[in-house]
Amino acid sequence: QTIYRKDYTPTPYLIKHVYLEFLLNEDSTHVISRLSMLPNYGSASAPPILELDGRKDIKLLTVKVAGKELQPSEYDLTEKLLTLSKLPKGEFEVEIKENTSLEGLYKSGGNFCTQCEAEGFRGITYFLDRPDVMAKYTTRIEADAKSYPVLLSNGNLLEQGSLEGGRHFAVWEDPFVKPCYLFALVAGDLAVREDSFKTMSGRTVTLRIYTRAKDIDRVAWAMESLKRAMKWDEDTFGLEYDLDLFNIVAVDDFNMGAMENKSLNIFNSRLVIASPSTSTDMDYSRVEGVVGHEYFHNWTGNRVTCRDWFQLTLKEGLTVFRDQEFSADLNSRPVKRIEDVMRLRTAQFVEDAGSMAHPIRPDSYIKMDNFYTLTVYEKGAEIVRLYQTLLGKDGFRKGMDLYFKRHDGQAVTCDDFRNAMADANGQDLSAFAAWYAQAGTPHVKIAASYNAANRTYTVKASQQTLPSPGQSEKGPVPIPVAVGLLGQDGTELPLNLKGESAEPATTKVLLLTEKEQEFVFTEVSEKPVPSLLRDFSAPVKLEVEGQTEDELVFLLAHDKDAFCRWEAGQRLLRSLLTSLYTSASASKEAKLEDRLSAAGAVPDKIVAAIGAVLSDKELDGAFVAAAISLPAAAELIGSIPNIDPVLLHNVRQYLVRELAARLRPELEAAIKRNESAAGASYVPGDSKQAAQRAIKNKALSYLSALKDPQVTADLLQRTRSATNMTDQISALACLVDSESPEREIALAEFYEQWKDDGLVMLKWIALQAGSNFEGNLKNVEKLVSHPAFSITNPNACYSLFLAFLRSPVNFHAADGSGYTFIADSILKVDKINRQVASRMVSSSAFTAWKDYDVERQQMMKEQLARINAENGLSENVFEIVSKSLEG
Ligand code: ARG
Ligand code: ZN
Repeated sequence: QTIYRKDYTPTPYLIKHVYLEFLLNEDSTHVISRLSMLPNYGSASAPPILELDGRKDIKLLTVKVAGKELQPSEYDLTEKLLTLSKLPKGEFEVEIKENTSLEGLYKSGGNFCTQCEAEGFRGITYFLDRPDVMAKYTTRIEADAKSYPVLLSNGNLLEQGSLEGGRHFAVWEDPFVKPCYLFALVAGDLAVREDSFKTMSGRTVTLRIYTRAKDIDRVAWAMESLKRAMKWDEDTFGLEYDLDLFNIVAVDDFNMGAMENKSLNIFNSRLVIASPSTSTDMDYSRVEGVVGHEYFHNWTGNRVTCRDWFQLTLKEGLTVFRDQEFSADLNSRPVKRIEDVMRLRTAQFVEDAGSMAHPIRPDSYIKMDNFYTLTVYEKGAEIVRLYQTLLGKDGFRKGMDLYFKRHDGQAVTCDDFRNAMADANGQDLSAFAAWYAQAGTPHVKIAASYNAANRTYTVKASQQTLPSPGQSEKGPVPIPVAVGLLGQDGTELPLNLKGESAEPATTKVLLLTEKEQEFVFTEVSEKPVPSLLRDFSAPVKLEVEGQTEDELVFLLAHDKDAFCRWEAGQRLLRSLLTSLYTSASASKEAKLEDRLSAAGAVPDKIVAAIGAVLSDKELDGAFVAAAISLPAAAELIGSIPNIDPVLLHNVRQYLVRELAARLRPELEAAIKRNESAAGASYVPGDSKQAAQRAIKNKALSYLSALKDPQVTADLLQRTRSATNMTDQISALACLVDSESPEREIALAEFYEQWKDDGLVMLKWIALQAGSNFEGNLKNVEKLVSHPAFSITNPNACYSLFLAFLRSPVNFHAADGSGYTFIADSILKVDKINRQVASRMVSSSAFTAWKDYDVERQQMMKEQLARINAENGLSENVFEIVSKSLEG
């Protein structure tokens, strides 16, 4: 059943207060819910019916309305709804007693916990399960004191005590109104680490992180990150925490990253637990980012929430933007921006071009859980960033201030946010509504020319967005294009824009609002090299007409804008990969080696340009590592029609080998120069150390492509002697892509060393599942029954299946075996966890089968049809599979 945004209607009843009582037992949970109902239907009319959302696994015991118990004939109960009619006028109370079986409320590692967003609360009790019903909650939890010593819910602890029969209780009260998706409960045997934070107005907040006892020594970084996030939000947005207690609980079984429940954030343990020997630099930065993200939701999400689920990007796009800025301020801003753009282009652009393409504010859905997407989150964050690019940081801050002033305590829409930005800055931003309504990535084309006689530089820009499912006609969207012009010596020219009175500057933002537009720079003293879309000022694909290889080499060497500098290298490599692929694909040779040599040589100019970046000791090592990385295959798929993904992989590897062979001395020098980081003791958050590791490990991965026995032996040695997980796993990753005795030894030793650490085992599984030597499927099948893997654990499924999906050689194997394996696995997982299963489909190339060669298209469609025909398929998987089949 499809739900449409246009069908939104206000709720006929509101809930003033919710009283919940949980009697937790091993086999079933008894829930009492007392709702103080408020009429919201206008006083003139008779009370309308009250439809409370529920699920078939709730066993209803009794319903009371205004103190009077109803007979079953007096209410209507279906699988999804409890309907009450003949209700009293004015305020009244509904009391519901029932038993629930672990949906919404579930068990992980022996502990009770909840996940209510988007619509899990209805699995706990009958309720108006929609975000615009905001109420105050009081929660009483009762459980066995020995098995569940810790009892937590939202807000402040009011009361606790022991009961007879070895049981105990706690009562929590949340003074803030909230929608039910922010409700949380945790009961379990957990260890805790405590700290505190003094807010800007002088309030001391107690901070607690709970984990299982064995993990509690590894939460220092999460705690540090939390305190930094609290400080950052005060400094940047003047936003202060609003309660005396903030809790984080880590659980091992969690579908997503984490959840921002009011004052009781629940996290996937992989985003809380960190130590140098078990976590990579990337893990550390993810923990920091996600702890920040969930904390920032307290204002952007909790204090101001969404009117309905179509508005999800209101809180998620904004909060991702905030966590990106937080990480950028704490670490290298340019490198963070580059990483975010990479992610957007390799994953969100693909989603935007596939069968699940949707606007950041979708118009319809079958299962809301399917719309926690890269589009809503990452593209949504880019759209928030557009306001900041246009209004400046101060203007953006003014908009945020007005947003909170107007809407604190409310459930609002994306339009309310845009209006706050507009009104606070006296600007008309109505054209930005198009970004919320239109799916697909705009293509921007720029052609520029210099007129020496007039000393003018004319930039002609046009935009186009391709049709997407359900949207055949697209209009223009407002696109800020940040531009700089470089003189022949690499310095930035002062920019004067014709028709604009502003001071000259070295970067100007051109706002593209039409299908085609022209901008003229005046007083341009020489023919410049343009630096376009600086800092990736809009989420678009940019084509620059007539841009030469020489210009790109020049930009890679000189651009002051780090993003454009990196992008120049990526453009060089993308076009090189495309031309190599095109020639290899046209070659009639039978053997791969011959096709690759037919593809042509790698130009010296490009090798030299990459080599220069690699050897530049002034550059940030993390930037260098990103700049010498080849564009992901995902960036090319879609731009080359009917692509053969295995050939593309082989072409990419050929380029890696060429660069490695020709830059070997430079790579070895870079490794030597940066080796010292390994000796120093690991300092979490030290970006200098991390940068050294990044460049060293990147260089090693290039060298490993040479299959030189000496390099291979060195890598094996590194897996043994590494002093931190970043170095250890990087060395192991270099070994897993091809068959060798060293590979087997290293994997076995790693397993022996880490087999008792579930989080590290996830890495071990992912490396093997994603490895690219031919015929690896049989190993992946074995992994499924390996004791380190558990199909009921979402993280394990992601590590195994999602990693396999990223192996071009094995997932896209020409005989279709990879497709069959994944389809079988999706069906298997769907019976256990439909959210995980649907993520497996949506992350797969199945949703973009049109991009591939005809044989593969056929095989993918067959698998989609097979999944679609399955009896008892979840709505989650059905939605994605059926949309993919429709294309
Ligand atoms: N609000 C959470 C976050 O982004 C994610 C919740 C995801 N829930 C879901 N059913 N997909 O921080
Ligand atoms: Zn979020």
